[in-house]
Amino acid sequence: MPYIVAEPCINCKYTDCVEVCPVDCFYEGPNFLVIHPDECIDCNACVPTCPVEAIYADDELPSKWEHYTEWNAYLAEQWQTMGYNITEKKDELPTADEYSTEPELSQKSEEDILTWEGSPE
Ligand code: SF4
Ligand code: F3S
Repeated sequence: MPYIVAEPCINCKYTDCVEVCPVDCFYEGPNFLVIHPDECIDCNACVPTCPVEAIYADDELPSKWEHYTEWNAYLAEQWQTMGYNITEKKDELPTADEYSTEPELSQKSEEDILTWEGSPE
């Protein structure tokens, strides 16, 4: 029962979550983070650190974000292979304020996390 990063993280990437994870199981793309489901030990430490409430236990994931379970698994595999493990906090994205207060914008950007190019900034 791993934890899942969902839509509110898109284009924000505050990265407070990565600092508390005891098993370093966060992986980073250009505008989103995911949790590797085979590495997460379900400790719950990351949940309260996210300022936009993007992280959920998979059995508490809002139904509108159910597909993020598959997306976390899929992207974590890819980003792990590419060496994009993230364990230290860095500055949030320049779009973080805008996207955390305008949820309709992050809906529009969902495609971006599956069609990304390039490496994390
Ligand atoms: Fe890491 Fe614990 Fe969060 Fe899983 S629940 S991603 S182990 S901090
Ligand atoms: Fe994303 Fe929240 Fe972590 S915005 S990077 S899940 S602190």
